[in-house]
Amino acid sequence: MKVEHILHTNGGVGKTSYANNSLLQRAVISMVKPIVGASIEELCCTLFPECLKVADLGRSSGPNTLLVVSDIINSIHTTYQKLNRPPPSLQAFLNDLPGNDFNAGFRSLPGFYKKLDEEHEKKFGSCFIAGMPGSFYGRLFPNNSLNFVHSSYALHWISEVPKGLLTEEEEGLNKGNIYIAKTSPPAVFKQYLEQFKRDFTVFLRSRAEELVPGGSMVLTITGSIKSHDPLCIWEFVGLKLNDMVLEGLIGKEKLDAFNMPFYTPTTKEIEEVIQAEGSFTLQNLEVLKNDWDSYIKQANSGLDKKTRAAIFATHIRAVAEPILASQFGEEAMDDLFPRFEEDVLDHMERENCQYINLVISLTKKR
Ligand SMILES: C[S@@+](CC[C@H](N)C(=O)[O-])C[C@H]1O[C@@H](n2cnc3c(N)ncnc32)[C@H](O)[C@@H]1O
Repeated sequence: MKVEHILHTNGGVGKTSYANNSLLQRAVISMVKPIVGASIEELCCTLFPECLKVADLGRSSGPNTLLVVSDIINSIHTTYQKLNRPPPSLQAFLNDLPGNDFNAGFRSLPGFYKKLDEEHEKKFGSCFIAGMPGSFYGRLFPNNSLNFVHSSYALHWISEVPKGLLTEEEEGLNKGNIYIAKTSPPAVFKQYLEQFKRDFTVFLRSRAEELVPGGSMVLTITGSIKSHDPLCIWEFVGLKLNDMVLEGLIGKEKLDAFNMPFYTPTTKEIEEVIQAEGSFTLQNLEVLKNDWDSYIKQANSGLDKKTRAAIFATHIRAVAEPILASQFGEEAMDDLFPRFEEDVLDHMERENCQYINLVISLTKKR
């Protein structure tokens, strides 16, 4: 099944909504802010656009996208102050799959525009924000219409679960797992890698058509050091689902047939696709490593391990619930996440699991 029909984060602004549980992604955006700032400065000083046109791809619902837009505005403002020129206006497109809760973000726009005027004493040009629903694995914008593309924590979602993971008899190759895990046969890794290569190539080709020559992108994605043994959070979720199968709470056939449409590439895999596609120059590829709960410790240093695990479980639920519930049912989610919470941080310590964030800066060749 195509991911665009089932993938979205938890909408609205409730307790389990993505809007209220996106602290991890927020921390990542803050880490990457200097890289985005440098890219915007470079763009402004080489292209001098009258209106800077940017897109945030896979923006989800919640405050993080407006955070990115506001960081971009601050960079433009600082750059043009240095240049002693009036800043350009900004048009920002917020993209996600059509099933995403776009309205939750749009409701906060009037307040955002008001704050912008106050912070910049009405000295910033003008800012125009629009939605652009659709899959980034395909065309979203007209030819040569964008200056800058940003995407954070979205491109590790591939366009579909690799078809080859199901044999002709509809038997799952990756039985008992929902992503590449230690017990997965090598063919599973191969299928995932091939799907990632196909998807990332389509992504680069589409953006190459849409960006002006010299336009740039900053893409942040979860990667891995060894993509055949990625130590990913989905391996751990798979273990918990297995326990539920053994207890008869979910059907074995459901688990055997399900895999996450997700892939955590290595830097080498990223570099190879960029080079083979050929439209972009790779300016920089940074690797930022963090423990699974380090962003929670950073936000509040006084929390004990149990509390951190509970917060982490709610955050993973906000991202994964819609897709897991589409296979295992809503009721199973209330059982799964307390189990997850129970020993996720022990598992992390035992296995030395970390988030490997890859920050990719690219410029379209002229
Ligand atoms: C974890 S959220 C990250 C949201 C936001 N960028 C942030 O940092 O808070 C990932 C988002 O990517 C979106 N996404 C995944 N595949 C996509 C695709 N092919 N096209 C557009 N959006 C996609 C998902 O719907 C989801 O909202």
